[in-house]
Order: sequence, then structure tokens, then C-alpha cells
Amino acid sequence: MKNIRVGIIGATGYTALEVAKLIQGHDNANVVLATSRAHAGEALSTVHPSLSGRCDLTIQSFVADQFADECDVAMCCLPHGASAETVQQLARRGVRVIDFSADFRLSDVDTYQKWYEVQHPWPERVGSTVYGMPEFFADSIRDADIVANPGCYPTTAILPLVPLLEAGLITTEDIIIDSKSGVSGAGRSAKIATLYCETNEAISAYAVGCHRHQPEIDDIVRRVSGKSIQSLFTPHLTPMDRGILSTIYVRPTCKDVSNIMACWQDRFQNSPFIHPVPHLPSTKHVAGTNHVQMSVRTAGSRAILVCAIDNLAKGASGAAIQNMNVMFGFEQTTGLI
Ligand SMILES: NC(=O)c1ccc[n+]([C@@H]2O[C@H](COP(=O)([O-])OP(=O)(O)OC[C@H]3O[C@@H](n4cnc5c(N)ncnc54)[C@H](OP(=O)(O)O)[C@@H]3O)[C@@H](O)[C@H]2O)c1
Repeated sequence: MKNIRVGIIGATGYTALEVAKLIQGHDNANVVLATSRAHAGEALSTVHPSLSGRCDLTIQSFVADQFADECDVAMCCLPHGASAETVQQLARRGVRVIDFSADFRLSDVDTYQKWYEVQHPWPERVGSTVYGMPEFFADSIRDADIVANPGCYPTTAILPLVPLLEAGLITTEDIIIDSKSGVSGAGRSAKIATLYCETNEAISAYAVGCHRHQPEIDDIVRRVSGKSIQSLFTPHLTPMDRGILSTIYVRPTCKDVSNIMACWQDRFQNSPFIHPVPHLPSTKHVAGTNHVQMSVRTAGSRAILVCAIDNLAKGASGAAIQNMNVMFGFEQTTGLI
């Protein structure tokens, strides 16, 4: 089978590094192009020493026409706003793109502009791109020109909630999502909040009531399950390199929550990365993998769902490779197991 030529934009960041590492273990894909504004002309392995001897490309400046000539797919690992402009240039040249940012995830541009506080440079495409969660959208991903790779926190909420809402096993009211993330979730650029002395031996809530992943969770849950929710989402920064654990408080509609495990097992029977498990998941159980573990307990009138992922794998680059596999007709697990 043909080898897929992968180009990475924003190659100096954490998600880009993870893409480059994962592609090394992929039988049908190679990284052929890597771009950056600040490090063009340097070896990729100078910027990411862990790639030495594994991916020794020279970083280049971004030129959209070069992607059209040399790549089958572009992994756009840029921050929101900057990403949309780049995606637009690529898509207009016929390059298939997996966009890591939030620029094409939401259903409507007004919600995007309100929460992200920027004008969208390509508003007419917002709401007409595929959300890159093969567990729910594999058929649309197969032929997509632009795949909006999911947010890391939303992945831990959407996956456990959707089957239960679809089956009517929980109410749409009063859903509380309490999430903790490792520091790599904030990206590689220097920020005071992510300095060692700020994060080590500390745990702190941030963006309480106003995190940008809030509308994404509610929007995608509604899009897949047909049920409107207004969840309450609070993220926390924890002193880990990577990993997300979400604890989700819901109201079950029946007393026997063994139905919840059965519902997940049924809905995800053909989803190789989703694992309903009897134990309480930990970030360590999924670290460095594309796997998702979820479980449930009860307390009083609540069911409590716990879901763990690796933010750089299923929360970003692993999901992107899984999407690429679907787009190019490979097994979802290729290069990921
Ligand atoms: N980290 C995660 O766990 C995670 C999870 C899910 C989704 N995401 C999303 O994935 C994207 C990349 O995240 P990341 O963690 O890899 O970020 P990062 O480590 O900060 O890397 C982003 C890269 O983009 C380039 N860049 C920054 N600002 C730019 C601009 N205005 N125009 C063009 N290039 C710019 C930078 O490279 P140069 O300065 O060298 O050009 C930088 O290395 C973001 O949209 C993020 O929200 C991240």
C-alpha cells in the first residue's frame, strides 16, 4: 500500500513532536515536511532531541504550495486563529488537513467568536467540517477535506456521556465535569502559569466557568446524541507531564448502574481504543497510549463517571493518527498499538 506523506505545521510544539514520534511506528506513513516560523533551517532533532536518529528533517518555513506538491495530509499543530488561516490556504489547494486547534470544531461561528474572542478568518466553513472522533463520525471522516481534531478535555467528557444520553440512562440536567490535566496540555511555549515553581507540588483550578472547551462539550454531545445539555466544566492543572482524568457527576434515571457499563460495552464494541473497566481509571493506566479507560460508581442519587486519557495521545496526536488512518483506509489502530 502507498505510503502517506505527512507534513507537520507548528513542528516545534508538543503535539507536533508526538505526531513525529507516532509516525515512526506507522507502517504506511512518513513525515516528509515540518515547518516553523522561528526555527526554519534547523534540524527537527535539534529542536526535539528525542527525535535524533529517528526523524532528521530540516525544518522549513510554511509555504502552502509546497504542501500541495509534497504532502498527502497536513497535521496543523498551531494555536487557534493562526490555524484557521493556514487550514484555509491548504484546503483551497486540495491538501487534506487535520486541524489540532479549535477553529473548526464548533457548529456555529458566533459561538466560536464569543468564546475565542477572535474573528474567524473563514466563517463559512465553521459547522461544515467533520469532528475528528472516529468512535462517532468515522463515515464522515473517511472522505473529509478538513478534520477538526477534538479538544483534549472534551474527549474525556463526550465519550462517556454520549452513549448514556442516547440510551436515556442519565438525565440531561445537572452534569458536572471536574477535570485535571498535566502541564503539557498548555503547550510548549513559555508561560508563567506553567513554570516549574508554579506547577510543581501544586494543583489549581483555572478558567472556572469560562473555559473554551465548555461549548465544545455541549455542542458535540448534542450533535451526536441529539440531547441538549448545559454541563458545568472545571479544569485543573496538576503536576504531571501528561494525562487527563475527568470525574463526571450525573443523575442516573435508574437505580442499577450496571446498565451504564453494559451500555458503554455495547456502544464501543467496535471502538478499539475505548475500554469500560471495572477499576477506577488512572492517567498512569493510559499514559503514552491512545487508549481511553472509563468506569462508574454510585453515591446517593448520583452516578460518578471517571475517564482517563493521555492528552497528547487520544487527546491530540494519537487521535490525529487515528483520524488519518480512517481518511486513508487503514485500520484505526495502525501505528497506535
Ligand atoms: N497540548 C495538548 O495537550 C493539546 C491537546 C489537544 C489540542 N491541542 C491543540 O493543538 C495545537 C498545538 O498545541 P501544542 O500543545 O502543540 O502547542 P505548542 O507546543 O505551543 O506549539 C504550537 C506551535 O505553533 C507555532 N505557533 C505559535 N503561534 C503561532 C502563530 N501565531 N502562527 C503560526 N505558528 C504559531 C509555534 O511554532 P513556531 O513559533 O516555531 O512557529 C509552536 O511551536 C493548539 O491549537 C492546541 O490547542 C493541544
